Amino acid sequence: MENLDWSNLSFNARHTKAVVKSVYRDGRWSAPEVSDDFNLHLDIFAGVFHYSNSCFEGLKAFRGADGKVRIFRPDENAKRMASSGAYLDMAYPSEEMFIDMCVTCVKENIDYLPPYGFGASLYIRPVLIGCNPQLGVQSSKEVIFMVMCSPVGLYSTSKGLTPTTAIISRNYDRAAPNGTGRFKLSANYATSLHPYNLAHRLGYGELLYLDSATKTKIDEFGSSNFMAIKGDRYVTPLSNSVLPSITNKSLQQIATDFGLTVEKRPIPVEELAEFDEVNACGTAVVITPIHTIEDRPGLESDVVTASYHFGSPDKCGPVSQKLYERIRGIQNGTEEDPYGWCLVL
Ligand code: PLP
Ligand code: COI
Repeated sequence: MENLDWSNLSFNARHTKAVVKSVYRDGRWSAPEVSDDFNLHLDIFAGVFHYSNSCFEGLKAFRGADGKVRIFRPDENAKRMASSGAYLDMAYPSEEMFIDMCVTCVKENIDYLPPYGFGASLYIRPVLIGCNPQLGVQSSKEVIFMVMCSPVGLYSTSKGLTPTTAIISRNYDRAAPNGTGRFKLSANYATSLHPYNLAHRLGYGELLYLDSATKTKIDEFGSSNFMAIKGDRYVTPLSNSVLPSITNKSLQQIATDFGLTVEKRPIPVEELAEFDEVNACGTAVVITPIHTIEDRPGLESDVVTASYHFGSPDKCGPVSQKLYERIRGIQNGTEEDPYGWCLVL
C-alpha cells in the first residue's frame, strides 16, 4: 500500500484493501463477501439511480493509546440504518450483521487504520442501495448492503478544533415538516448540495437549517447537529426533522456527567444572541466550534441582516473543549468508557 501521511489526512474517499458486500435477493441475505473490487456492476434501471432508494451510515474506528482498536457505538448506527431502511420499505441488515460486516471491514483494512496520536481515524461507511431494475416509483426488492472505509482526518480542517462560520439557510430547506430529516437517506443530502455550494461560495464553513414550517427555530447543520452552551446548560434542538446524532446523544450523556443541565427543546433563532458557545457535532466533524452565525434574506443575497458571535474566532470554548476531550478520550481508550460505548476488537 502507498505511504500515508497520517497527520495530513482530509475527509476524502480513498480505496483501501477491501470492501464487504452482501446482496438481499429472494428473501435472504447472501454470505458477506470481502472483495478488492471497488466497482459495482448494476442494472441501469436500479432504483438507486432513479429514485434514490438508498440510505447510509457513518461511524469511526480508532487505534487507541493501548494499541487496541475501538469502533464507536456501532449498535447505534445499526439501529439508525434499520430505521432508514424501514422508511424506504426495503430489506436492511440485522444489528448483528451490520456490526459483523463493519468489524470485517476494519479487520480487512487494518493497515489503513491511523495509528494513535494523529487525531485521525478510519471512517466506516455502510451503504444500503436498491438494485433491482424498475421504472415505477417503488421500493426495491433487491438490495445491496456494503461496508467500505477510508482513513480520515477531521472533516473541515486538519487543525482540529478550529472555529468556523455558518450562515442560516432562509430560502432553502433540508427537510419537510413531516418529511425524512430524521432518517439518514441519501436523498436528504442531494437536497442540501445546492444550498451548501451557495454557502461555501459566500465563504461560510457551515449551513444552518431552520424548521421548514415556520422558519423560526433552529434545526441542524447540513451534515451535523447543532448544540450550544448557555451558562451551565447544554442546549440542542428538539425537532422531528433533525437526524438523531449519535455524537450528540453521547455528548449529552457526558455533559450530564459533567454536571451540566441538558435541554433538548425548540430553539428560537433569536436565542443565538444568548449562547456562550455553539458547535456542530457529528461523527465526521466530532465537535466543530462555530464562532459566527450570519443571517441573510437568502443565500443569494448580499445583505447580512444579523450576525451572532460566540467566543473567540481562533479558539474552542472551554466547555466544548472539555466535552471534546472526554469523547475523544473514550474513543482513544485514554478515558474510562463507563457506558461501554466502544466495541473493542
Ligand atoms: N446531522 C446530519 C444531517 C448528519 O449528516 C450527521 C452525520 O451523520 C449528523 C447530524 C451527526 O450524526 P452522528 O453523530 O450520528 O454522526
Ligand atoms: C457523518 O458525520 O458521519 C456524516 O455522515 C456526515 C457527512 C459526511 C455526510
